[in-house]
Amino acid sequence: MHLASILDRVAGLGSDKWRVHIRARQMMNRGEAVILLTIGEPDQPTPAELVDAAHRAMRAGRTGYSSGRGEASVLKALAAKYSARSGRTIGSDQFIWVPGTQSALFLLLMALVETGDEVIVADPCYATYHGLVRATGATTVPVALREARGFRLDADDVARAVTPRTRVIFLNSPHNPTGAVLSRDDIRAIGEVAKAHDLWILSDEVYESLVFAGSTFASPFDEADLAERTVVASSLSKSHAAPGFRAGWCAGSPAFIARLLPLAETMLFGAQPFIADMAAEALSRDFAITAQMRDAYAARARHVAEALAGVPGLRVHPPQAGMFVMLSVDGLGLDGEAFAFRLLDEEQVAVMPGAAFGDAAAGMVRLSLTVPDAALAEGCTRIAALARRLRVR
Ligand SMILES: Cc1ncc(COP(=O)(O)O)c(C=O)c1O
Repeated sequence: MHLASILDRVAGLGSDKWRVHIRARQMMNRGEAVILLTIGEPDQPTPAELVDAAHRAMRAGRTGYSSGRGEASVLKALAAKYSARSGRTIGSDQFIWVPGTQSALFLLLMALVETGDEVIVADPCYATYHGLVRATGATTVPVALREARGFRLDADDVARAVTPRTRVIFLNSPHNPTGAVLSRDDIRAIGEVAKAHDLWILSDEVYESLVFAGSTFASPFDEADLAERTVVASSLSKSHAAPGFRAGWCAGSPAFIARLLPLAETMLFGAQPFIADMAAEALSRDFAITAQMRDAYAARARHVAEALAGVPGLRVHPPQAGMFVMLSVDGLGLDGEAFAFRLLDEEQVAVMPGAAFGDAAAGMVRLSLTVPDAALAEGCTRIAALARRLRVR
């Protein structure tokens, strides 16, 4: 029987990137003690108030169908959040509630591109982006992030990548895996490129709340002259340590969201009202956990930088935000993947090879900061030990 070509386009995109992680899991299942620095899942539980809010809502019978756009309570909360952020009046009709950033990105790309189109994407980028774009039939055009710019996407590089087929500039700030945060000037410059070529800007803002002291979050959605061409994907996964709730949204202009709604309804037929109630509560006030996680990740990132400073062959790239640190290992004479497998086999520490995020990061590995301080410190000690051994040979 025939299968649609979308399955070929996304085949093999997932598992290869996770080979180190999968081997680490197998070792752990055999009882081996592995320090797992691969995945970026918050290491704190979802706040009890939010679990209670979802529970209360379920008990109160909020388990029926929702509207395709989302529950009024959470749309109102989103309108308030984005109005405060942008300084403009943002309406409830500028959002669609969906299960997480990932499905928001899928929905938005399905709406914006198709076969023959090109999407400009930073290299490296979050591991699912290639699959997201390929699913639509469009192709990614990678723009290498420069270390000299702190891995902040450069507008001139973006401009050089534009062709007549370009439809979308895909931004992710704060950025996974590098932790780079685009400044307002960066965004304005990239916005000029988008305006000059009449392109959409797709902005993945899932790490918005995890910006460390010294940097400031900025979004093209908050720029009045870019808002019409900007669509945002985000969620509570990182901000409220709630990835399992799959609580996310798309934001855009009222006209765009009106066009998007039938596609969202076709795909989802609405989301869970009890999760919307929880999310409305989450968005209604500050939760201490957000600052706690941000400060913990910032402190752990500083620790990694200090622990590995001066180790010959290693170079730490301190992040401005998020839950990861990139580490260059090419000074040891091997690429990120070879280093990651050696590290796992010889030191029982699992990290992500940079190549999982793009060719430009092939000489790096990504360390997750979502483990207890002591485990991270031990992980760094073992990374330094392997690096020293590799230098001696
Ligand atoms: C850059 C980026 N976008 C999207 C996601 C997925 O987020 P969600 O859990 O909201 O689907 C992640 C998760 O790690 C991410 O790092």
